Amino acid sequence: MELEQRGVILVTGGAGFIGSNFVLDWVAGGYGAVVNLDALTYAGNLENLVSLEGNPAHTFVRGDICDAALVKSLLEKYRPRAVVHFAAESHVDRSIVGPEAFLKTNIDGTFTMLQAARGYYDGLVGEERERFRFLHVSTDEVYGTLTPEAPAFHEETPYAPNSPYAASKASSDHLVRAWLHTYGLPTLITNCSNNYGPYQFPEKLIPLMIANALQGKALPVYGDGQQVRDWLYVGDHASALRVVLERGRVGETYNVGGGNQRTNLAVVTTLCALLDELVPESKFAPHKELVKYVTDRPGHDRRYAIDARKLEGELGWKAAESFETGLRKTVEWYLANAAWVESVTSGAYQQWVTKNYGERTSVAAGESAR
Ligand code: NAD
Ligand code: TYD
Repeated sequence: MELEQRGVILVTGGAGFIGSNFVLDWVAGGYGAVVNLDALTYAGNLENLVSLEGNPAHTFVRGDICDAALVKSLLEKYRPRAVVHFAAESHVDRSIVGPEAFLKTNIDGTFTMLQAARGYYDGLVGEERERFRFLHVSTDEVYGTLTPEAPAFHEETPYAPNSPYAASKASSDHLVRAWLHTYGLPTLITNCSNNYGPYQFPEKLIPLMIANALQGKALPVYGDGQQVRDWLYVGDHASALRVVLERGRVGETYNVGGGNQRTNLAVVTTLCALLDELVPESKFAPHKELVKYVTDRPGHDRRYAIDARKLEGELGWKAAESFETGLRKTVEWYLANAAWVESVTSGAYQQWVTKNYGERTSVAAGESAR
């Protein structure tokens, strides 16, 4: 099928970690053309998309999702068959230090996107109207925290967000729900667990630990390191989003996760072992010795786990990577792309590191100092 017949999708936040992986896979798979709206905050990097330079299937627009006139004009100009909404402030620690940007982008920005999409959808007729979807990409953090024995989050789990980030994403999910029920906008929501993989900004656990270990810096484990996250390789998230866009039932929520629950400490020690193996000449091996327990994150959620049976059973999605294969691929990618890490860890990044880690004291394992 020709590119034109497959239609255009409007992606927001497509220069960020998950967005850029999604866009690269979408274009490589020949699923159609992409208009990519991204403000290029510290988390957005055009370098993630260099392989698409000159490719007619990708149009990049630098702009803010809170700019209603811009979003409206893009919808009118490109007439997308779907909006895939990734753009957000996404880092919990930053939301604790400065929540304002989270409320602005995640709540106001989603509101702006919904209003613009609603205006555009109201003007569609026939097949264009039938086909249109608004896919809102959200997180499992809206559900709050689990005890060790509790069943995994499912689509009916009540919302109980605990961090400013989670609360702002929960708010955006509620707006999406209201725009479906009140205005009939054909929306879909996905709530996904922690992602990892290429192009993740080195402020998040996995790329931060790889970058620090390679430089012989301390590996800062918050609190006792026994917090559990459910990890999914980013390419599997992208494939889940494609499936939901294609076959998901309008108005439904789908939880996305790979069934890989690990404690943070287990993740860090596995990464250290991979680095010992893949960089045998490192003068910092064994890298595990770099682990340093530091003051815990305030309000730190103890455990996340996703029940993805609805997505698997109803839509036939399945993760392709296990945690072991995905983590190895990820470490190999970071080793091969040191220049990317170098270029994204600019002056602003250094300021963040000083702010977030400078005030954390070293604590003994098991101590719950804050
Ligand atoms: P990210 O921080 O890497 O990227 C966010 C992107 O949004 C960046 O390119 C940034 O420039 C852009 N952006 C920020 N504010 C903007 C604005 N006002 N206007 C336009 N663009 C703006 O985030 P990510 O990890 O790729 O997450 C993408 C989405 O997936 C988010 O909505 C996040 O809540 C969700 N999510 C993330 C994870 C995860 O583990 N990272 C898990 C589940 C869900
Ligand atoms: P993160 O990657 O920030 O994702 P999220 O908070 O959205 O789950 O953190 C993953 C886990 O790793 C979380 O429990 C906090 C912990 N963590 C550390 O122990 N040390 C660190 O330096 C960072 C960034 C995270």
